[in-house]
Amino acid sequence: MLKKSLESVLTSQESNELISAFDQIGNIIIVRIPDSLLSKKKIIGETLLNEVKIVKSVFYQSSAVEGDFRTRNLEILAGEDNTETEYKEFGCKFIVDVENAFFSPRLSTERERIAKLTQDGEVITNMFAGVGMFSIMAAKKKKCTVYSLDLNPIASKLCERNIAINKLAGEVISINGNASKIIEEQLIDKSDRTLTLLPERSDEFLDSAISTTKNGGIIHYYSHIHADKKSEAGKLTEEHYKKITPVKSEILGSKIVRAVGPRYYQTVVDVKITK
Ligand SMILES: C[S@@+](CC[C@H](N)C(=O)[O-])C[C@H]1O[C@@H](n2cnc3c(N)ncnc32)[C@H](O)[C@@H]1O
Repeated sequence: MLKKSLESVLTSQESNELISAFDQIGNIIIVRIPDSLLSKKKIIGETLLNEVKIVKSVFYQSSAVEGDFRTRNLEILAGEDNTETEYKEFGCKFIVDVENAFFSPRLSTERERIAKLTQDGEVITNMFAGVGMFSIMAAKKKKCTVYSLDLNPIASKLCERNIAINKLAGEVISINGNASKIIEEQLIDKSDRTLTLLPERSDEFLDSAISTTKNGGIIHYYSHIHADKKSEAGKLTEEHYKKITPVKSEILGSKIVRAVGPRYYQTVVDVKITK
C-alpha cells in the first residue's frame, strides 16, 4: 500500500529501500530515509500524506533512538507538526508522543506474550515502562497490580493518561524517577514478575531487578546481543545471563524479540530466581 502510494515519485528500487523504514502509528507516519533519497524527502512526505487516508502528519526520523530517555528527533515533512497521537493495540488505547517519549509498534508481539504469561493476582514491576504499554496490556488482560517506572517525566505523564483512558486506576501505578532508586525506597521484594526493557543497560540494572523480585519470582531479562547465526542469539543471551547473575536462576526460555541491526538482536531470557 505504501509502496503503491509512492509509485509516482520513486522508482521501484527506491521504494523497496524505503519500505522497511516506515512506521505508521495512529495518524502519524515516521520514515527513515537513506542518504541517497534525502533530496526527495519533501515529496515523499507530501505523497504519503495525500495517499494514505487517515494520516495527518509525516515525519522524517533525523536521529537514532538515543539518550537516557531513548527518544529520537523528528522533522515534519508534511501535514500537522503534532507528535502526539492515539494508538490501539490488543484492545487497549494509548496516547503516545512519538518524539518525546519512547514508543515502538515493533514490540507488540512481545507485549502480547507478556500479557498472556501474566497470572491473576500478580504484582509486576515494569522498570523502564515508557508510556505504560506493557503495564496496561498486562493489567487489561489479568487482574494484577503493575508498578510502571520511568525516568522521563513526559513518559510517566502519558502513562498516567493511558491508565485513565483504559480505566486501570489503582491497578497500574505510574512512578516517575530512576528505577533503581524507586525500587530501593519502595519496591523491595514486591514483584512476582519484573521487566527490564532497557536492553542496552540490563546488566547495570540486574541487581535492582533482583531486589524488586520476590523469591520464586520471574525476571524477563532483555538484552542486545551480537550473533553470527540468528538461531544462536537466545542461547548466547542465556549464557551471558548465567555468567553475570548473582542469584540461583532457572532458565525458563529465551527468544529473539526483534533484529536491531545486521547480526545484532534484541533478546529476552525468562528466569525464575531463588534468593
Ligand atoms: C526502550 S524504552 C522502553 C519503554 C517501554 N517498555 C515500551 O516498551 O514502550 C526504555 C525506557 O527506559 C527509561 N529509562 C531510562 N533510564 C531509566 C532509569 N534509570 N530508570 C527508569 N527508567 C529509565 C527511558 O525513559 C525509556 O522510556
